[in-house]
Amino acid sequence: METANPTHQLTGRKLAVKLGGTTILNGIDFAARSGQLIGVLGPSGSGKSTLLMALSGFRPATGGVVLFKRKDLYKEFEALKTHIGFVPQDDIVPTQLRVERVVKYAAELRLPDLSKEEREQRIDSLLGMLDLQERRRLRVNKLSGGQRKRVSIAVELLAKPELFFADEPTSGLDPALEMELMKLLRRMATQGRIVIVTTHIMSSLSLLDLICVLHKGRLAYFGPPDQIKPYFKVSDFSEIYHLLGTREPNEWESHFKRHPFHQKYLASQLQGGS
Ligand SMILES: Nc1ncnc2c1ncn2[C@@H]1O[C@H](COP(=O)(O)OP(=O)(O)O)[C@@H](O)[C@H]1O
Ligand SMILES: [Mg+2]
Repeated sequence: METANPTHQLTGRKLAVKLGGTTILNGIDFAARSGQLIGVLGPSGSGKSTLLMALSGFRPATGGVVLFKRKDLYKEFEALKTHIGFVPQDDIVPTQLRVERVVKYAAELRLPDLSKEEREQRIDSLLGMLDLQERRRLRVNKLSGGQRKRVSIAVELLAKPELFFADEPTSGLDPALEMELMKLLRRMATQGRIVIVTTHIMSSLSLLDLICVLHKGRLAYFGPPDQIKPYFKVSDFSEIYHLLGTREPNEWESHFKRHPFHQKYLASQLQGGS
C-alpha cells in the first residue's frame, strides 16, 4: 500500500529471546512500513507477545537488532519511544475514575507541551474516533471489555504514535466488536502508521496486509493473508495450527526461507538497510 512517508520502516533482524536457558524466540526476521497492518499469529505460547515486546523495545530481544526510522531502537529507545504506542494484552486497571479523567490524566503526563485547549481537542477527537463520546462520563470499572480496550487504545493514541502495537486487542470481545476493532486498526494503519497486532481472529485476516506466523519461537510464514492457505496447502485457516505441530519448528522455518515470499517480504526489505 502506498503511503505518504514510505521511509518509516520497522525491521527486526535475527531476533532472539533467551530467558534462563530457554529460547523463546529464535532468529526472527521482520519488516514493516508505514501504512501496513500486520498480524502476528500462532498457537498459544509460540512467542507472539514476546515478539511484540521485542519489536516495540519495551522488552528488548537478547539477540538481534531492531531498526525504526533507520535508528537502532534499543540504543535510541528514549528518543524513539514517544513515537510508539503499545496496548498490552491485559486490560487497564479497572479504576473508579471516569473515562475522560483517565484520558485527561494520561494526556497531561504524555503531552505536557500542549495547551489545555489542544489537549482537550485531541481527547475529544480520539473519544469520537473510538466511539467513546457517549461513555466519557462512565467509570472505567463499569465498562465492557471492548470499551475498556478502546480506552487503552485512546490513551496510547494520545501522542499520535507512528508505530502502534496491540497484543490480542480483540480477546474477550464478541464477533461484531472484534470486527469493529480490527477495522479501526486498519484505518489507523491506512492513515500512515505501522500497526502490529496479535490476533486469533480468522474472519478479519483480509484486513491485514501481511501475516507473520510463529511456531515455537520460529518464523513459519511471513506474507499476504490470501496466500497463506495455498502456502500451507489447507482449505481452512484453522487447520494450520494443527499442521504446524506435525513438523519441527526449524523445518517450517527452512521451508519458508526457501520460498520466494522470504525474499520478497523480508530479505529484500532487510537488505535496504533502513
Ligand atoms: N518471563 C518468562 N520466562 C520464561 N519463559 C517465558 C517468559 N515469558 C514467556 N515465556 C514463555 O515463552 C513462550 C512464549 O510466550 P509468549 O510470547 O507469551 O507466547 P504467546 O504470546 O504466543 O502466547 C511461552 O512458552 C512462555 O511460557
Ligand atoms: Mg501472548
